[in-house]
Amino acid sequence: MRILGIETSCDETGIAIYDEHQGLLSHQLYSQVKLHADYGGVVPELASRDHVKKTLPLIRAAMQEANLTPADIDGVAYTAGPGLVGALLVGATIGRSLAYAWNVPAVAVHHMEGHLLAPMLEDNPPPFPFIALLVSGGHTMLVKVDGIGEYEIMGESIDDAAGEAFDKTAKLMGLDYPGGPLLSKLAQNGTPGRFKFPRPMTDRPGLDFSFSGLKTFTANTIASNDGSEQTRADIALAFEQAVVDTLAIKCRRALQQTGYKRLVIAGGVSANRRLREELAAMMSKLGGEVFYPRTEFCTDNGAMIAFAGMQRLRQGEYQDLAVQAKPRWPIDKLAPIEK
Ligand code: KG4
Ligand code: ZN
Repeated sequence: MRILGIETSCDETGIAIYDEHQGLLSHQLYSQVKLHADYGGVVPELASRDHVKKTLPLIRAAMQEANLTPADIDGVAYTAGPGLVGALLVGATIGRSLAYAWNVPAVAVHHMEGHLLAPMLEDNPPPFPFIALLVSGGHTMLVKVDGIGEYEIMGESIDDAAGEAFDKTAKLMGLDYPGGPLLSKLAQNGTPGRFKFPRPMTDRPGLDFSFSGLKTFTANTIASNDGSEQTRADIALAFEQAVVDTLAIKCRRALQQTGYKRLVIAGGVSANRRLREELAAMMSKLGGEVFYPRTEFCTDNGAMIAFAGMQRLRQGEYQDLAVQAKPRWPIDKLAPIEK
């Protein structure tokens, strides 16, 4: 069975074709980063319009790359949520229409399930059960994963998501959008220990996160210091270290609470080098193992949607003629897949 995956939930148009036996046959990605950079964030209307322009050409390119015709496709998976509703509607409408025209099933995929399963596209996929840390621009969650669709949210952010905190703090520091990777690059030249930022909500029990206070702490630190390049790098490092430590502390707690030994990290922020290094060190100390998607599949992409769609289609789980777009869609409401 072969499935076409379509991702248009935010500012990336991602298309991929996945074969249940051969794996990923092709994937195409167009990032709208430049389009939104002047505005310092994603402009939903511009995002939708650009998905309208890019989705069909990228589908053609993916089909060509895999040397396939529509007759070779057995299903179409599209991101149905959560995300920006106008952007979701583009992928959902195109996905549903192609499925109708090609007379194959359409599968409405949960974007965060896509992120969560993305490490399974790699050569060393994580066996169940595991703890997943999902860290993206829109979500920060710790999920207990016992199988596909068997998700229990153990903790989440009560305000900004980790990626959002990176982006907002980067903006305060005068960096372009999306600032996460740029702030991380700036932090490479930082002096360890010059500034010490708080680790929010780690002094009390529980697995929820809060990152908005760190942004204010950064703003105050910027205001009360010189604006030299070294100081900016030192502040960036202190911020990054605080976010990474906070995420690591909560991961350790979730692992201890469940007794699980495997940790999966996915979503845009899982591309962060410092986070990867710290969690790798922590897991080796705990005698466990950590799994990530390859860097290009940390951020939004079509491959993870094709893969997640395939898992559901294989079980005969697909949707009716309706176009599905759900801006809010809790991951723990998904149906488990029979093992
Ligand atoms: O998963 P994603 O592509 O989109 C959402 O579903 O939100 O995540 C994008 C987020 C942005 O906030 C971006 O700044 C952040 O991931 N990000 C990073 C890094 N690479 C991407 N944050 C910190 N360090 C990075 N290296
Ligand atoms: Zn995402």
